[in-house]
Amino acid sequence: MPGTAVIGLQWGDEAKGKIVDILTAQQDVVVRYQGGANAGHTVVFNGQRYKLSLIPSGVFHPNVQCVIAGGVVCSPSALLAEIDTLVKLGVNVGKNLLISDRAHIIFPWHKIEDAMFDNIASGEAIGTTMRGIGPCYQDKYGRSLAVRFGDLYKPDFEEKIQTIAGAKNRLFNGLIGETDNSQMLPGIGIDIDAGAVFREYKGYADRLEKYVTDTTAYLLDAVDADKRILFEGAQGSLLDVDHGTFPYVTSSNSSAVGVCSGAGVPPHFIKKYVGIIKAYTTRVGGGPFPTELANDTGQCIRDRGKEYGTVTKRPRRCGWFDAVAARYTVRLGGIDTLAVMLLDVLSTFDELKICTAYTLDGSRVTAFPSHVDDLRRVEAIYETLPGWHEDITEVRQFSDLPLNAQNYLKRISGLIGKPIEMVSVGPGREQTIMLQF
Ligand code: IMP
Repeated sequence: MPGTAVIGLQWGDEAKGKIVDILTAQQDVVVRYQGGANAGHTVVFNGQRYKLSLIPSGVFHPNVQCVIAGGVVCSPSALLAEIDTLVKLGVNVGKNLLISDRAHIIFPWHKIEDAMFDNIASGEAIGTTMRGIGPCYQDKYGRSLAVRFGDLYKPDFEEKIQTIAGAKNRLFNGLIGETDNSQMLPGIGIDIDAGAVFREYKGYADRLEKYVTDTTAYLLDAVDADKRILFEGAQGSLLDVDHGTFPYVTSSNSSAVGVCSGAGVPPHFIKKYVGIIKAYTTRVGGGPFPTELANDTGQCIRDRGKEYGTVTKRPRRCGWFDAVAARYTVRLGGIDTLAVMLLDVLSTFDELKICTAYTLDGSRVTAFPSHVDDLRRVEAIYETLPGWHEDITEVRQFSDLPLNAQNYLKRISGLIGKPIEMVSVGPGREQTIMLQF
C-alpha cells in the first residue's frame, strides 16, 4: 500500500497519534502536511509518554524518514524545543527529519494577531490555541508579509524582517482600542524590534538549516520509488477551513482534501484513507456542537476520557457520537475504513445515544448544514442503545467484547457506511482490536 492517510473525522483530538504509531511500523516515510504547533499528540514509547506537536511520531522508528511538508506553519522555537527534548531522551533526530523550505514561519506578530482578532466579528470567540496559526496562514495567502523556511537563507532575510515588522507595527498601533481584545496586548502601543526578531530567527535558522530542504522533490522521488508513505493529519475534518464549521475552524484543510496540497504528492498516489473517530464526540474552543452534553454525563466522559487539551490543557466539550457529522466527513474524505478510539471510556453507562439525524426548523435533516447559524439551530435526534459496564481494556478480539459494545460499534459502522478496521480500548499500542472485514 504505497500511500495511506490517517484523518480525524470529528473536531480533532481523536487519538490519531496511536493509530499513526501502529501504522508507522510498516512505513518508509511519515509526513505531517498541515497545521502547526496547535496540534498535539501523545505517544507511548518504551513505557514513556511523549508529547509531540510538529515532529511526526515516526521519529521513534529508526528506519522511518519524517517529513514536515510545505503545508505546515512552523514555529521554529517550538520545533527546536521538541528536537531538544527528543535528543535528551536519547531519540535520534538527524537525517531522519526533513523540513520543507516551503513551510511558512510563525513570528511573534502572529501570536499578537491571534489575541487581537479572535472574536472581532463573530460574537462567540473562535477560541484559538493562540499559537499564531491563523495569522500565519493569513500572511501565506496574502503573500506580501509571508516568510517561508527557504527565505531564512537568502541575503535579503534581514531586510524582509525589517519591512514586515514595520508594517505590522503600523497595523497594530492603528488598531489599538479598536478590537475587544486589545487589552490583551502587552502594554499600550506595540513596538516590535525588528533587529531582535532577526537575531532570534537567524539563530533558529542556523540550528535548523541541516533539516531544511525541498521536501516536495523528496516526496515525488519517494512516490516514483513506490515507497510506503503515511500522511498524518492534524486536527479533524470538522475543523477544515473550507468544509468544516466555519468560522469555528482551524486555518488549514484538516480533512482528507488537504493531504495532497499540503504534502505535495499526486492525488492518485494515496490508496487508503483511514478515518479516526472517538466512540463519542469532543470539541475544544467555540462553535456549535449539536450533541454536546453540558451536564454530569458530559463531565463523566471528560473525566473517564481525560478530555483536557494536549496543547492548551483546556477542558474539552464532550457529547454523544454524531453520525450525521461523521457520515459527512467520511464522504468528504473518501474514507475507506474506520478506527474507533476510546471505546473503554463508555464502559459505565446504562444507555448510550447516537445522533442519527437533526431537526432543523421543524424538518428532519441528515445532511450536515454548511452555515454555522443553521448548525446552531439544529436539534439532535437520538437513537438509544443499551450500554455495558464490563472493563474492556484487556479485550483483544471483537467477539470478546460485551454484546452491547459489539452492537454499538456495528450501529456506528452501519450509520456511517464504512467498515471498522481497528477499535482502541486503552492508550497502549497493544490495547487495540484489529478487525477483519
Ligand atoms: P487555531 O488552530 O489555533 O487557529 O484554533 C482554531 C480552532 O481549532 C479552535 O477552536 C481550536 O480549539 C481548534 N483546534 C486547533 N488545533 C486543534 C487540535 O489539535 N485539536 C482540537 N482542536 C483544535
